[in-house]
Amino acid sequence: MSKGANGSIGVGLLGAGVVGSEVGRALVGTSTFRDHGLDLRRVLVRDLSAKRDGIPPGILTDDAEEVLGDSGIGVVVEVMGGEEPARSYIMAAMSSGKHVVTANKEVIAKHGDELARVARANNVGLSYEASVGGGIPVLAVLQDSLGANRIDTIRAIINGTTNYILTSMDESGAAFAEALAEAQQLGYAEADPTADVEAHDPVFKLAILSRLAWDVSVSPANVYRSGISNIGAKDLRYARELGFKIKLLAIATSDADGIRCRVHPALVPIDVPMASVNGVLNAVEFNGDLVGPLWLQGRGAGAGPTASAVLGDVLRLARQVRSGNGFASASELPGDCAVEREILSIDGLEVCYYVRLSAVDRSGVLAKIADVFGETEISIASVIQKDSDDERGLADLVITTHPAVESRMQTAAERLRELDVVSSLDNLIRIEQYDSSTGT
Ligand code: NAP
Ligand code: HSE
Repeated sequence: MSKGANGSIGVGLLGAGVVGSEVGRALVGTSTFRDHGLDLRRVLVRDLSAKRDGIPPGILTDDAEEVLGDSGIGVVVEVMGGEEPARSYIMAAMSSGKHVVTANKEVIAKHGDELARVARANNVGLSYEASVGGGIPVLAVLQDSLGANRIDTIRAIINGTTNYILTSMDESGAAFAEALAEAQQLGYAEADPTADVEAHDPVFKLAILSRLAWDVSVSPANVYRSGISNIGAKDLRYARELGFKIKLLAIATSDADGIRCRVHPALVPIDVPMASVNGVLNAVEFNGDLVGPLWLQGRGAGAGPTASAVLGDVLRLARQVRSGNGFASASELPGDCAVEREILSIDGLEVCYYVRLSAVDRSGVLAKIADVFGETEISIASVIQKDSDDERGLADLVITTHPAVESRMQTAAERLRELDVVSSLDNLIRIEQYDSSTGT
């Protein structure tokens, strides 16, 4: 990509919503960016009549070709979101020799390999630091600073909306629907909250982290996913009484057998750092063979933090363009994922479980329930009888297990549901194990 006649680097912005407006305002109004020769030339939006504070109306357009076909634009910043047309626009920009910075986790998680090939073929940069962890510089740290390490575990809270909902339910005793409505009112959760509460968003992010950590192609379809809509205020209360918080964790592990990626609610011991990551905060833990456990925490969403990551990528590209030294972008995909590793299903996972069920409140019931665990070779760690419903003659039973294989636990859950003394199996939540000496 060439610089403009005056040495400037033309920037095209695809989208001027929450993130794009912040990025656009900074590019126009902050001297740092002008000093780097960055010149915001065009901004693509859908609605030309909407007011965009700090962005000159004359550079707004609703015609993508005015950005993608402008030879004066060397860097395209995609902050539209969604799979299409974002993917096609990124592809078109790189094919015509433009560098791309994007915050789009869905496009990178689903099409990252193909986009990386196009970037390489056209000798352009493709950066996407903002796609995971918002303002936390997690991808650059993973790929650059930790590059010498063999990573064996990634454990993270990478969805601010669900962390806000779980924190609010825990602190106020609110039901899920109530906490979700509050998150929507505050602008954290979208009108359609599915991507967050059903955990599609953190699945995309974990697929990206795993690909960078192990140089393997991890499709979002290979990441086990379970959201938080089934978590009740009761679960948070019972978990607390047992010494745990409930968090939506994204966990990826690598060992001799392969790589396993999963996103689901988990009980986290109350005294480890992850249990204190509250509200919309995100946190990511890596464990590397050289560095040991490493912890990053910060704001994972919002205009400022996300623009921080996007603009950091833009500045790095600008420095590379000006130095003429090529584009070894920190969050660029690692190439054709050459390493063949098995992507393991959740079936062989071995963890402890929390089981909440509603059972008939009379003698002999516990024995029938214990038989199911015995038959499936799962060792019970504790059983507590909690709230009872005297009218219906039912009581909540909360059972925790010693480590058990997931497939056996699922068989046990099925058999428990079939028992005449069990009215409902209300929740089955994995318990995340931590090293008590390090809290990691
Ligand atoms: P947003 O507020 O919905 O803004 C999207 C922008 O893109 C709007 O300006 C919209 O135009 C424009 N747009 C969408 N589709 C378009 C189309 N087909 N043609 C032309 N313009 C189009 O989204 P956002 O929250 O800024 O998020 C942007 C990206 O950043 C997403 O990939 C998101 O996942 C990622 N991200 C967001 C956050 C966050 O906290 N918001 C954090 C991390 C990553 P109009 O304004 O005219 O509708
Ligand atoms: N919806 C995401 C979250 C922010 O709640 O964390 C965008 O990545």
